[in-house]
Parts: sequence; structure tokens; C-alpha cells
Amino acid sequence: MERVTVRVSGRSYQVIVGSGVLERADELVPAFPAATQAFVVTDRTVHDAWFPPLAAAFDRVGLHAVALLVPAGEEAKTLDVYRALLHQLATQEAHRDDPILALGGGSTGDLAGFVAATYMRGTPFVQVPTTLTAQVDASIGGKTAVNLPEGKNLVGAFHQPSVVLSEITTLASLPDRDFRAGLAEVAKYALTIDVELLAQLERDPSAVLARDPVVLERLVTRCVAAKAGEVAEDERDTGRRLVLNYGHTLGHALERLDAFAGRSHGEAIAAGMVFAARLSEAHGVGEDGLTARTLRLLSSLGLEPEGPMPPAEDLLHAFQLDKKFRDGVRFVLLEDTGRPRIVDDVPPDEVRRVLHEMGAPV
Ligand SMILES: NC(=O)c1ccc[n+]([C@@H]2O[C@H](COP(=O)([O-])OP(=O)(O)OC[C@H]3O[C@@H](n4cnc5c(N)ncnc54)[C@H](O)[C@@H]3O)[C@@H](O)[C@H]2O)c1
Ligand SMILES: [Zn+2]
Repeated sequence: MERVTVRVSGRSYQVIVGSGVLERADELVPAFPAATQAFVVTDRTVHDAWFPPLAAAFDRVGLHAVALLVPAGEEAKTLDVYRALLHQLATQEAHRDDPILALGGGSTGDLAGFVAATYMRGTPFVQVPTTLTAQVDASIGGKTAVNLPEGKNLVGAFHQPSVVLSEITTLASLPDRDFRAGLAEVAKYALTIDVELLAQLERDPSAVLARDPVVLERLVTRCVAAKAGEVAEDERDTGRRLVLNYGHTLGHALERLDAFAGRSHGEAIAAGMVFAARLSEAHGVGEDGLTARTLRLLSSLGLEPEGPMPPAEDLLHAFQLDKKFRDGVRFVLLEDTGRPRIVDDVPPDEVRRVLHEMGAPV
């Protein structure tokens, strides 16, 4: 079992990573002395596999666990589901000292976190992430949100959890595509922040792909530490945390133009990381060979950043809409692996050229 401390504005919390942490939730979560119930937001699949042991653990400390079922995946992140959860909490007499738990992937976490941020002006929140994406990324950092028809994550709040329990054995049942999506975020940390992790992945990707629990425990812990470092420096996501957006400028644009139907988030940011590497080289900030190395890494992790590219002009337009970049387009580039640099002055023609090289029609 590994622990990583996340430090945010005068407070800190632990991310506990390992096999068997979920069953030991009673020992690992902080005491909630005034609580009588624990509300567990989860979908049907995850509930059936993991709610019973979690509820048993809470029972041992006198907390009655109540499951609140929500749709699986992105469909949970709507104002309708959010409102339904608020009503259920109110009718079940949830008190502001009762913790709300997210048991599931990043969608469940984003939704439950937003409920916890707002119900009675904020209740304690516990993350129990069960996908690789949620364990290495979504459960850490306190960003919560639901979507609007107009766009993703448009309504939300910052609300840090009291603790994150990352149960490694949950990853065994994850569908391949979801597992690979998480690996794309892992590759992001390896390329931008943790070059030792990069070396490990390059040496032996097969142990990761085989989902060896010991290897995954170490992998998740390293990624959590990488994200925790960025979050500590920039809790409110104004500067340094942009590094976590590596590969996401093109990634988000592809997702938007695919109308969220084509590439998975992981596939989209895999293409985005290839684009960022190419642009780094083209713009003269990146070491030669960065693109080749990125492609080798992604391919060894089962991520083939292929698929049709939308027209370059549509992509450029989508970059402008990205909510992070109010004044022009800003890219996270790499001088070399582990050396990210934020660049504001990439001429549109240079961007166009790289997009064309990647197959985007004029
Ligand atoms: N808040 C943040 O900082 C942050 C960061 C990254 C991503 N996100 C958000 O996370 C969401 C994506 O999350 P995700 O990739 O975890 O997927 P998800 O939560 O959308 O979907 C997960 C799917 O996998 C299933 N599942 C979950 N755990 C499982 C398990 N152990 N075994 C088998 N099936 C399981 C679920 O039933 C569901 O169908 C997006 O909405 C994204 O915006 C948020
Ligand atoms: Zn991402």
C-alpha cells in the first residue's frame, strides 16, 4: 500500500493506493464523528462489484452506507442527474456532516464531487476511483463538474476530497478501451513530468499491459505524485497546472469535432501528444526525435493515434473555443521529455502545417 499527500491551501489529504484498500475503508478514511450515514454515488456495474465490501467497512464504524445509483459514464454528468441526487439526499435526511462518496470512474467522481461541493454548501467528500483514468487523474485535484448541452464541464466547483482510496484490484475488470484511455494520461505524466516513469514504460510496457497489480500500484502512485505536485503549485488551475493539459488542446478539439462519438478521450489525447511533439520540433523548441519517441511509447501501450483528421480550419477554430485560452491559442510544448514549456506565440501557419502533415485536409 502506498500513500501520496496532496497539499492544497493550508490543508492536505492522502491518496492511498493498493490492493485491499477498499475493504479497509473503515481504517483508512478520516473519522466523521458527527455523521450517521455515508452516501455512495455509483453506477449499477460498479455498485454490484464494489458497494458490498465498502458498505461493510463503513458499517464497522457505525456509518450506514446508502447507495445512490446514477447512469454509467458521461451520461451521469447532467443537471438532471445532479438535481435528482440533491432530492434523494434531502428526502433521506442527509446531514452536512455525512460524507458523500464517489465510487466509480471520473464521470461518477465529477458528478458526486459537484453534489458534495454544493449540497448544504458543502459536505465531506471521499473519492473511490475504479478506472485508471480516475485513479491517475480525475480523483485528484478537486475539480468537479457536470456538462451542459452547450459543452463539457461548464458547471462545477473546486471541492477537494478528504481522502482518495485507489483500489488497484478494481482495474482488473476494466474494458480494454478504458484501460488504454488511462494509459494515455499515464503517458502524459511520463513525457512531461516523470522521466523515470518514461524509462520504465519504455523498458517494459508488457508488465503494465498485463495489469500486474504490483506494477499498477507503483504506476498509479507515480502518476498521483506527478499530479499532486502540479496541483500543489496551482490549486485553482491558472498557470503551472496547464502542464497537465499536455496533448489536450488538439485532444479536446478532436473530441468536440467528433461530437464525442468517435475517439475516446485517451485516443484523442494520444493524437494530441503526437501533435504537441511535432509542433515542438517544428517550432524549434523541441529536441529532434521527440515525435518518434512519442509514437514509439504510445504504440507500445496499445495507443495508435490514428483516425481521420477534421479540416485544419475547423481544428484551429476549435482551439479558439477552448475555455482555457481566452487570449489566443496557448500550447504546452516540450523542450525535451520532462521539460514542458508554455508557448503563446506559435504562428497559425505553423500550426496549420503540422496539422496538414498529420493528415488534416485544408
Ligand atoms: N475532475 C478532473 O480533474 C478530471 C480529470 C480527467 C477526467 N475527468 C472526467 O472523467 C470522465 C471520464 O472518466 P473515466 O474515463 O473514468 O470513465 P467514465 O467514468 O465516464 O466511465 C467509466 C465506465 O467504466 C465502467 N467502470 C468503472 N469502473 C469499472 C471497473 N473497475 N470495471 C469495469 N467497468 C468499470 C463504468 O460503469 C462506466 O461505464 C470524463 O467526464 C472527464 O471529463 C475529470
Ligand atoms: Zn485527459
